[in-house]
This record gives sequence, C-alpha cells and structure tokens, in this order.
Amino acid sequence: DIRGVIFDLDGVLTDTAEYHYLAWQQLADEEGIPFNRQANEPLRGISRRASLMMILGNRQYSEAEIEEMMERKNNYYIELIQTISPKDLLPGAIALLDELRQNGIKTAIGSASKNARMVVERLGIADQVDAIADGYSVQQPKPAPDLFLYAANQLKLAPQQCVVFEDAAAGIEAALAAKMWTVGLGPSERVGSAHIVLPSLAGVKWAELQAKLSDVSR
Ligand code: BG6
Ligand code: MG
Repeated sequence: DIRGVIFDLDGVLTDTAEYHYLAWQQLADEEGIPFNRQANEPLRGISRRASLMMILGNRQYSEAEIEEMMERKNNYYIELIQTISPKDLLPGAIALLDELRQNGIKTAIGSASKNARMVVERLGIADQVDAIADGYSVQQPKPAPDLFLYAANQLKLAPQQCVVFEDAAAGIEAALAAKMWTVGLGPSERVGSAHIVLPSLAGVKWAELQAKLSDVSR
C-alpha cells in the first residue's frame, strides 16, 4: 500500500528548471563556452557540481575556479528565484497536495537543490509537506537512491510504500534504485523508465493514480 508521495521540486511542482538553465547559460556565455537548451537537457535534476562538469567538458580548471563558477551560477539562480510566488506552482500541484493530505498520505520534497527550502517557502507550500530532503541531506546525488531513501526515512515509511514524482531521467533512476514507485512527468524519451508516465500534474487524481499503480504491479 502506498502511504507517501515524494515530489521532486524543480520541474515537478514549479518550473525552476528554466531558471537553472538561464543561470547556467549566463555563466557559459561569460566563460565563452558553447551551451544551449539542448546541451542543458542532460543537466536536468543533476547536482550543481555534476552540471558544471558537463558544461566544462574536457576544459581544465582548478578547484578554486570550479567553486567560483558554481557560486556565480548560484548567485544568478538566487536572483532569478526571488520573484517566485504561489502563482508559480505548476497546474495541478496544489490540488494534488490537498487531496493527498485529505487521504492521509504523507508528502515530502526530494530535491537535489540546496535552494529547495527557499523555493518551497516562496511557493507557500511549506505547511503542506511533512518533510524536505534537499541538497544538504545526503552525500551521493541522484541517480543514487540516497536522497529518496532519506526522504522516506523522514516520513517513517519503507521505500515500497512511497511513490516518487520526477521530471528527470536521473531522478527516475534514483527512485527505481531506491525500490520506490515512480511517476515520470514529461516526454517518455526523458522519463520513459518510470512505472507511469504523465504529461504533467494537471488533473492527476490520487485514486486514479493508485489504481494505475496497482495495475502495473500485477
Ligand atoms: C535540482 C535541479 O533539483 O537541483 C538541478 O533539477 C540543479 O538543475 C540541482 O542543478 C542542484 O541545485 P542547486 O540549487 O543546489 O544548485
Ligand atoms: Mg526536477
């Protein structure tokens, strides 16, 4: 029986994925490194450091330079998320959070971001979630299962009792490695390995989702 839902944040509850992209684009432009939306695709859901490493490719930089660039990108990102408000919740997010609460299902955020708490607060949903696992919670980033296992532990649930909503390939991989149920949001080229793939949270009903999940588990 599913007792808890763990939501990735960026690209699932709100479209901060776009802000992450814009901040990386600005950094890459300043460094004269070719980068664009297509090159950003594999960065979805992965850690700040791993993202920078992919952008830098085989260019050589010192650890100090790497840290400076991570900080610079983060400063651009923090600037971009200052304007986030409850209006920036993606369609269906609030309705589902409300429905889960009404059904006694526990909820958590499972985000790789060190800025997750700030975003959750700006979105006005801090009181609607029972736990937050973020970029400070564990050492190993997604696709390792650690972050989702940490979230389940916070909810006092076994992995098999949890379903994860993710928009990123690395996130689905992490949730499957944690032996959790998975709902991929977005194109199947990205999240096709999830148990269920949906375009977005819009119109998602808890009862219907439970039924679909018990279908695939048969
Ligand atoms: C994830 C985002 O949630 O967090 C990634 O999808 C981001 O794009 C990662 O790189 C780390 O976020 P932050 O805010 O700690 O740099
Ligand atoms: Mg995401």
